[in-house]
Amino acid sequence: MDTTESKHILAGKRGIIFGVFNEKSLAWAVAKHCVDEGANIVITNTKAAAKLGSSEKLASSVNMPFIPCDATNEDDLEHLLLESQKLLGGQIDFILHSVAQSLNLRRRKSYDNLCYSYFQKTLDISALSFHKLLQTAHRLNVLKRGASVLTITYIASERSMAGYNDMSDAKALLESIVRNFGRILGEQKQIRVNAISQSPVPTKAGSHWNEESYFFSYSNQLAPLGNATADDLADVCVMMFSDYTKRVTMQTIYNDGGFSNTLLTPSLINSFRKSIDTEDTK
Ligand SMILES: NC(=O)c1ccc[n+]([C@@H]2O[C@H](COP(=O)([O-])OP(=O)(O)OC[C@H]3O[C@@H](n4cnc5c(N)ncnc54)[C@H](O)[C@@H]3O)[C@@H](O)[C@H]2O)c1
Repeated sequence: MDTTESKHILAGKRGIIFGVFNEKSLAWAVAKHCVDEGANIVITNTKAAAKLGSSEKLASSVNMPFIPCDATNEDDLEHLLLESQKLLGGQIDFILHSVAQSLNLRRRKSYDNLCYSYFQKTLDISALSFHKLLQTAHRLNVLKRGASVLTITYIASERSMAGYNDMSDAKALLESIVRNFGRILGEQKQIRVNAISQSPVPTKAGSHWNEESYFFSYSNQLAPLGNATADDLADVCVMMFSDYTKRVTMQTIYNDGGFSNTLLTPSLINSFRKSIDTEDTK
């Protein structure tokens, strides 16, 4: 790589960003950082999300096109990929899949009382859509040799976590697709496929926690570096889309301040001690 060519590490690259719903969306932070680093991108979301949220307005605020696409629909995916290639003027260098939804979570159905048609939708939107995206992109040959594809996951794919519900199963499947498709695309076209396991951030999909919630501060206290923000995630994504990570593939990369490898910290022990002491004095 010729680093004298440009100081912008994504200069000249063409990307597609899924999942910009509003300013709080993780995908929006990533989109902005990619544009700042010199990339040309297409922003996409469902027609319904575009109506309810601000995807189109945000795309035009960075002078980038918006193309609607339901990521579970293969015809929509085909149209998005071919149109993006046309609009951006060549094969695609990177894609961010930042897509998830669980009606069981939203309607507060507990894990031992799931609605199975919702469960199937959770899996389709939050995991199978990634397979459909990769399979369609591969069939149409729209990804450039050496391209980089990312999805966003959460540690509850590997650990049992109260409240994360059927999304845990969707994330486990998503990470498995990363490994299996990553091998095929790597062997055939040197294409990288990775998942970033992200700290909690208060967004629409992350609405089960807000900055005041117990879980958000528990996670922040347990992580030696604290919770990673949307901007922190965007930095990691830019690095993963760049040529600096040409041989990193089929991984789940933890952008979580060390949360996933920490069992207990002095600050958490102190919090427990304080609450036990308060109980004792009652
Ligand atoms: N916010 C967090 O704390 C957190 C932590 C770890 C991982 N994640 C993951 O990050 C990703 C982005 O979530 P977010 O927190 O930015 O919330 P968000 O609600 O802003 O983003 C989710 C996006 O998925 C889109 N989407 C839903 N169904 C779709 C479909 N059929 N086709 C295309 N798009 C569809 C929504 O419109 C929305 O833009 C999700 O995969 C989420 O699970 C979030």
